[in-house]
Amino acid sequence: MPYYPEELIDEIRNKNDIVDVISGHVALKKSGRRYTGLCPFHSEKTGSFSVDQDKQLYYCFGCHAAGNVFTFVEQYENMTFPEAVKYLADRARIELPEINYTDEMKQQRDRKGKLLEIMYEAEKYFFHQLKTPEGALGLKYFKSRELDDEIIKSFGLGYSLQRSHDIVDYLRQKGYDDELIREAGLGVFYEKEGMKDKFINRVMFPIQDMNGKVIGFGGRVMGEAKPKYLNSPENLIFEKRKNLFALNRARSARKGRIILCEGYMDVISMHQAGFTEAVASLGTAFTPEQAALLKRFTDRVLLAYDSDGAGKNAALKAIDILASAGIEGRVIDLKPYKDPDEFIKALGSEKFEERLNATENGFLFKIDELRGKYTLDDAHPEQKTAFERETARLLCSFEDELERENYIRAVSARYGIDESILKRAVISQASAGVNVSQPKISVDENKDRRKRAEDAQYNNERLFIAWIVAKPGLYEQIKDDIKPEEFTDPVCEKTARLVFEGIENGKLDPAAIIDRFEEDERSKAAACLQDDPYLFRDGGSDIDGMDNDQAAVFKNTLLKIKRAGAEKKEGAAGSIDELIKNKRLMQELEKKRYIL
Ligand code: UTP
Ligand code: MN
Repeated sequence: MPYYPEELIDEIRNKNDIVDVISGHVALKKSGRRYTGLCPFHSEKTGSFSVDQDKQLYYCFGCHAAGNVFTFVEQYENMTFPEAVKYLADRARIELPEINYTDEMKQQRDRKGKLLEIMYEAEKYFFHQLKTPEGALGLKYFKSRELDDEIIKSFGLGYSLQRSHDIVDYLRQKGYDDELIREAGLGVFYEKEGMKDKFINRVMFPIQDMNGKVIGFGGRVMGEAKPKYLNSPENLIFEKRKNLFALNRARSARKGRIILCEGYMDVISMHQAGFTEAVASLGTAFTPEQAALLKRFTDRVLLAYDSDGAGKNAALKAIDILASAGIEGRVIDLKPYKDPDEFIKALGSEKFEERLNATENGFLFKIDELRGKYTLDDAHPEQKTAFERETARLLCSFEDELERENYIRAVSARYGIDESILKRAVISQASAGVNVSQPKISVDENKDRRKRAEDAQYNNERLFIAWIVAKPGLYEQIKDDIKPEEFTDPVCEKTARLVFEGIENGKLDPAAIIDRFEEDERSKAAACLQDDPYLFRDGGSDIDGMDNDQAAVFKNTLLKIKRAGAEKKEGAAGSIDELIKNKRLMQELEKKRYIL
């Protein structure tokens, strides 16, 4: 957008039919005016994903992912907008001009390119060392961990020699400057000694991004020394929070689940054993960004964290983070082994698969951990009370009543707590507002109400715009009755303006409108441009009980938008004149009849 001319973006969009592009990744079936299929952005069994060829938009009625061909590529391939533009331009064989990058962007892009290039060189170099006499140590280490040649090659594992100026010299000789070597984290600059290798005498684990490009390394000592791992520092291409080790492989495993491990070694050994859906975080705790990333591929994450205390704590934290992202985390029991690597070596993949099928629900795992902190017998009634109270507090985190009831039942059965007593304890905890960490059971009613009103208003505005897009002929009838600035939701306001303008200029192009929005607003805008399936079904909608009269529903929607818009203005001190004028207009509109 900022650096390619709009006409070029239009051309690229027009030459990449959305149905063609999406069909490359999702099996689509024609049904009426649309194509439908299983949503690639959340896991589901019924097809809520719909692609509209006329409008060149897609929309998921399940997870509300929405957009045009660019946003699809951005979301599906994890690309930035410029990357998606490049990808689709290549696909349509359109040459991109280089000139329109701003200098700063050009610099950044060149810098990223350079960093990726130097990482690629380093990976090849470290891998190559395994075959040299000096690097035989590294190969021996991997063999001692029972990794075969194939997996070593496929993960591009390597070795950094026991020298202080090895890769640094190699890269310099290849023409890379010291500053780039330092920024890439392959060399460290010392005041007295100058630039030295960062990784010395370590086996090397390349870390790849979603597209398989090397963005960093983890380097492990071959013995017991500390630190066990050194990791590349973060830079323009390497953000630990936003990547997962081996996700580029796991994303195409398509097993309907992802196995989340703690360590690089665990992941590699699991891939070797056929569990190619295994990933790990990058030397840091699991993050919400990583959970969001996983959510794009699966709803089911199995945790294969170490069975020791530290591993359990990390698993407990990960379960909460996954839950916030809408993923059910289940815990794999690895006992009596410490980690999946040990387990598979000892018992093999069949037994591991059995454990995968007998995972423990994340919440029950949490309660089980909690239980370990109390002495639950008749000699310690106070401990029992404390345990039950804490359990009740945790049960409050389930928003959904049915789900909560089921957990109450499961917990009471497992720990022999009377079900109705536990239920009462949950209610009393919830109403006491004790549930501070996850205030799900309406703690702040006012806020709830305001939120609901905003949602309703957004829905009205969205519906109205969708209506106009579906029947642009209506615009003639309403153009004097409502203005974009009366919309209260900023994205709706902008969408309405662009839609109205488009109709006036005789070129309404929903897919082009999406590109006028910033990334975080696009899916909301796309939702406005999408038909509501309930809107046009036979017999019409039954919003507000105004059954079967589409025209009345339409008018009612328009009036509701205007009323809320007027309130907004009143709040912002509109003139009395205006208010009176508006009131009169409203009275007229109440009598007006639109013809759909
Ligand atoms: P582990 O100590 O469990 O390592 O740390 P591992 O990968 O399973 O290796 P082995 O099997 O003991 O050889 C788990 C993860 O924590 C990060 C690394 O990402 C590692 O894979 N870590 C651990 C570090 O970043 N630095 C350390 O010093 C230790
Ligand atoms: Mn480990």
